[in-house]
Order: sequence, then structure tokens, then C-alpha cells
Amino acid sequence: MSLKYSAVLLQNKHGIACVSQRANSWWSAVQMGPPDVILGVTEAYKRDTNPKKINLGAGTYRDDNGKPYVLPCVRKAEEKLRAKNLDKEYAPIGGTAEFCKQTINLALGEGSEVVQNGLNATVQGISGTGSLRIGAALLSNFFPGNKVVYLPTPSWGNHTPIFKHSGLDVKSYRYYDSKNCGLDFAGALEDISKIPEKSIVLLHACAHNPTGVDPSKEQWAELSNLFKKRHLFPFFDMAYQGFATGSVDNDAFAVRHFIKEGHKIALCQSFAKNMGLYGERAGAFSIVGESKDEADRVMSQIKILIRAFYSNPPINGARIVGEILGDPQLRADWLKEVKGMADRIISVRTKLRENLKKEGSLKSWDHITNQIGMFCFTGMTAPQVEKLTKEFSIYLTKDGRISMAGVTSKNVEYLAHAIHQVTK
Ligand SMILES: Cc1ncc(COP(=O)(O)O)c(C=O)c1O
Repeated sequence: MSLKYSAVLLQNKHGIACVSQRANSWWSAVQMGPPDVILGVTEAYKRDTNPKKINLGAGTYRDDNGKPYVLPCVRKAEEKLRAKNLDKEYAPIGGTAEFCKQTINLALGEGSEVVQNGLNATVQGISGTGSLRIGAALLSNFFPGNKVVYLPTPSWGNHTPIFKHSGLDVKSYRYYDSKNCGLDFAGALEDISKIPEKSIVLLHACAHNPTGVDPSKEQWAELSNLFKKRHLFPFFDMAYQGFATGSVDNDAFAVRHFIKEGHKIALCQSFAKNMGLYGERAGAFSIVGESKDEADRVMSQIKILIRAFYSNPPINGARIVGEILGDPQLRADWLKEVKGMADRIISVRTKLRENLKKEGSLKSWDHITNQIGMFCFTGMTAPQVEKLTKEFSIYLTKDGRISMAGVTSKNVEYLAHAIHQVTK
């Protein structure tokens, strides 16, 4: 049989160039995609045989020995769950009502009027990513304004594909000032004030990824006023509640302030970082509506979307979260343990800055301690990063972002020495 072979360049519905071909295999036209940036860094790190190597790419917490950390409260919750000998039936489409209530209360504060009056439509999502995907699908289908999401520049690398895959357009507003490694608040205000009314604007609730730069409380208040004036829809991504400052209340300031000011928000939550439940995939998506009736209608549509995505969420992580938030002792343990993680990160930030000074660096490294959360945007250039990796076996993304979680009291001196060598 002779093969008919024709190729036509097409754009798929996400705008990605693809080739339609007829050949002897269904998949002969599929091109090799680029590897995930972060996973690529980890792979290269694994291949390196230098005993001094450090992986600062992955955003997962490590203890001071560089080991993954399972929170003791999680272990205790697991024991309690084992003793209950629960069945493995499906969860409801949106997760259990109890999990959803505890999660939204954690975000908005116990006794929140929103929750008491039934104004929230909250579902369990597959961690933060899955919750964002649910939110993106809801907005793509039902948002009454412009189906455009404005992201800060830069933003978490997955935001753009998540929103684009859902059919939303993605645009940006200024956020980070590379000159001072801090917030470009004037730039953000200027750009946001020009966003067309009734557009969606994504906000990192705390511990902005990748920059570690957050607005102050006063700046959040200004943003809230601007959102009101411009009639913009605030879409909060809160992946680090408690992990930034060590206080779940402090870290929820922005979300709670917007709620207090009457904004009707969308909110994504994740328990990956603050409970160390990375692989359990526990998170939540919420819409705050004008009335209980509105929240109920939105909820019904979210459930229809989830049913087609994956039917219902995984039960194990949500049960662990439920045990921890629902048991006063375990909850108190967790609040201490999440603070312990945040404090370790804050302390290695100080050590890194001090060691750079000891090395004789004349640069200002104040941004290392001014920034917050898992990541530090060091300000290193791509060639400096390359040198750091080649000559010192220190692995990080090309944008100069380091995961502070990979820094320990044992490797901080070596890291400071290496950073000084490539930046002096
Ligand atoms: C800003 C932000 N949003 C959402 C997520 C989602 O994380 P996960 O899906 O693991 O909960 C992350 C993880 O790095 C993040 O940094």
C-alpha cells in the first residue's frame, strides 16, 4: 500500500501550532514538547556527582538536613484516620461539606459572615492547580465581563497555560521591579487602572511566586479601592497561607480585606505547602456571591464542570486536612509546625544575606530578607545562573529564582560563597 502523506500547519484551539499529517501512524505528526523547566533543573541536579551540589529549583519544603518533611500533625491525623477504619466510597462531586467549610473558614477567618450567610460556593479541588483550573473553567463559561485574565509580571509559570487551556485570554500588569528587586507598586497601579472595566485580575494572596514580593497592608488597601473604582474582578490564588509569615491570619490579610471591603472574589487554596501535603492534592476553589441563592446557582454549575473533569476529588488528603483543622489539639500543633517552617526559611534568608556580606559582597542583598515565602528572586542574570550551576553545582531556574527551602544551615556558606563569586 502506498502511503499518502500530507502536512498542513494548523492552530489548535489554544493557539498552539500543530501539524496535521496523514501517515501510517496516528501520532507521527506529534512534535516533542519542551521538558518542564523545574523538572529539568531537578533532573540535571540528580545527574551531578558533586557532593556539594544544591537543588534550589523545586518549590518543596526541606528540613535543615535538606530532607522532605512530613509534619508531625499530619502523621497524627493519619493515625487517627487509620483507627477510624473508614471506607473508600466516592466523595461528593465538590468534596465533603465539612472539608469545604473548614477550608473557607481558614481563609476568611472563623465566624466569617460570608460563610454564616451561605454566600460562598466552595468545592474541594485537586490542590491549588486543580482549583485554579476549576475557577478558570467557571469564568470561561460564565463570567459576564471580559474573558481576559490579567496576571502580574512575572507570575507562577503555570498560570498562563491554566487560563489559556480554559479558553480565557491572558494579559499582564507590571508587578516586579528588577532595579530594586521589589514591588513596582506605581507600575502596578498604573497598569491596573488602565485595565478595561469588568476584567479578571489575578492576585497572589501572599508569598508571590516567583518573586517573594508582596504588597504591604496599605498597598493592598489601595489596590482594593482601585479594583472597586475600575469594577475589576479579583481572583485570588492563595497557595501559601501560613507559610509566608508563619501566621495563617497575617497571610490571609489581603483576601480578608477585600471581603471586608465588599468585593465578591474567586479564591483558590492549596494545602501542598502549608501542610506539606504536596502529593495528596488537597485544595479548594470558592466563589463569594451576592446572596445565598446566587452562591447555590454558581455551585450547581461548578459541580457540572467537575463532574466532566474528574467526577469527584480524592479523599485521603481532604480527610487529613479535615482531621487537622477539626481537632483543636491537632490544629494548634499545625499552627506551630507551619510557623516552624516559615521561621526556618526566614532564618536562612538572614544567614544567606549575612554570609554574602562576610564574603565581601558590596551589593545590597536586603531583598533576600525583604522578600517572603518559599522563593527569593535574587536578581542574578541568566549567565550568572549558568556559571553558578557549571562551576558550583548549584541548580536553579534561569530567572535567578531560588527556592529558600533548599537552603540549610549546612549549605548556606557554600551558597553565599558561590553567589559572591558569580556576582562580584
Ligand atoms: C502561586 C501558586 N499557585 C498555585 C500553586 C499550585 O500548587 P499545587 O497544585 O501543588 O497546590 C503553586 C505551586 O507552586 C503556586 O506557587
